[in-house]
Amino acid sequence: MTEAYQHFIDGQPADASDGAILTLPDPATGTTLATSAAGTAADVERAVAAAHAQFKGGAWSRMSGAARGLCIHRLADLVERDAEALADMDATAIGRPPAEPRMLDLPNAIATLRHAAGWADKIEGRTIPTAGYMGRPTLSYTERLPVGVVAAIVPWNTPLMITCWKLGALLAAGCTVVIKPAEQTPMSALHLAKLCREAGIPDGVVNVVTGYGATLGPVLCEHPKVAKITFTGSPETGAAIQRLAAPLFKHVALELGGKSPQIVFDDADIEAAVGGCAMGLFFNQGQVCAAGTRLLVHEAIAEVFTEQLAAVAEGIRVGNPADEGTQMGAVASRGQFEKINDYIRRGSEEGARLRAGGVSEAGDGWYVKPTVFAGAANDMSIARDEIFGPVGTVIPFADEAEAIAIANDTRYGLAATVWTADVARAHRVAREIEAGAVGINAWAPIDPQLPWGGFKQSGLGRECGLAGVLAYTEEKTTTVVLD
Ligand code: NAI
Ligand code: MG
Repeated sequence: MTEAYQHFIDGQPADASDGAILTLPDPATGTTLATSAAGTAADVERAVAAAHAQFKGGAWSRMSGAARGLCIHRLADLVERDAEALADMDATAIGRPPAEPRMLDLPNAIATLRHAAGWADKIEGRTIPTAGYMGRPTLSYTERLPVGVVAAIVPWNTPLMITCWKLGALLAAGCTVVIKPAEQTPMSALHLAKLCREAGIPDGVVNVVTGYGATLGPVLCEHPKVAKITFTGSPETGAAIQRLAAPLFKHVALELGGKSPQIVFDDADIEAAVGGCAMGLFFNQGQVCAAGTRLLVHEAIAEVFTEQLAAVAEGIRVGNPADEGTQMGAVASRGQFEKINDYIRRGSEEGARLRAGGVSEAGDGWYVKPTVFAGAANDMSIARDEIFGPVGTVIPFADEAEAIAIANDTRYGLAATVWTADVARAHRVAREIEAGAVGINAWAPIDPQLPWGGFKQSGLGRECGLAGVLAYTEEKTTTVVLD
């Protein structure tokens, strides 16, 4: 018997209104892992109604910021209690070794909730001196009010962590939510919703509707009672969401991935740079929005760097994520497997040289070899498109100006790393790079306190930190005439 996951609406599990289900394949074996409710418009309607009732006049709407913060703190404690199980749910659903989410996703998710909890009673307005009103003295002040019901549309790559980035902040701000997890990964979101109940968050504040994005997304995005859509995923789906939301003037926050450069200068600690770049390239089978897939390496060290990176790639043990010693599991879906292999084929066709890995054969699970290309140009498709798999492209550069030019010659701008021993150069280059987050001598130093989001086509808005919480508020001004 496989597990049958249901929605979680208004504090209760629920089937789809028409009883429809979808099957969740196991990427590691190709067999069926579980089923989940395939949500309908009617399910979304019920979930939004529950969220709206809590937002407008429900117990949640009357709770103080301090009380909300306490709920979020309790939620963080419960996520910590169940951390291993949550990490395993996310790992199993996408064929990933559980050690990774245990090490990174869960600690980050817990810390994010605690950070957000701390903001809940510190969302303050201002008093603003003005010239008065028609010669009469006034008092003007602002308040930061919650925007309302949020639709949180989440991808499958690091589901719990991304859900917590959205959930902690929106709860701190006083919003309510309908979470739409990716079809492949409903498990951790459903467990999280149950933990919300245990944490004392009133029923209806956090709802989860599972199923297909193409069916549920438009209903959520066009729903008159949804005030904001927060989305992490592909640019294509992000654009579709923005189009739907535009005529209705809804708030939209988008995190859309990237084609992030990792720039290695010839004065860098090569060993550290190779290790860091390999992590940036291969973590989570390369299915990371901040994956550092363009390796811009000074020409003097390009060959030795490539040789060492290729050796790391060839040494990674790829296999069933349940096996002890597996370092890289399967990619998340057949679609991912085919997309990644297509790009590897195109890389060779366009003239880049394979130095590690290559096209993988389909087997029982969807395993892709860690792959490194060299001799590549920045206009090849492997250097322009987000492959979302373990595929890196080494591109040599001659000097700092060229490194910056290549780094910025992309439609994306989410993250970057700079590897150098020269402090002034590190900051100079970091400042020039068009990206939301730059790591100097480290890949993707994400942290709950640090705002996260993209420049250019990597998205709109910021998550985490205070900016992430304020993004779920409207600033309102009130003026009183004093005499
Ligand atoms: P996607 O962007 O289509 O899916 C992400 C979420 O959006 C899922 O919850 C999905 O159900 C939902 N969705 C799908 N169609 C929708 C629609 N019309 N309206 C509203 N929501 C919708 O990404 P997908 O198809 O899973 O992966 C394709 C590629 O997208 C990947 O290969 C990768 O390049 C990129 N991607 C980037 C991510 C990131 O973290 N930046 C995460 C996931 C995918
Ligand atoms: Mg899609």
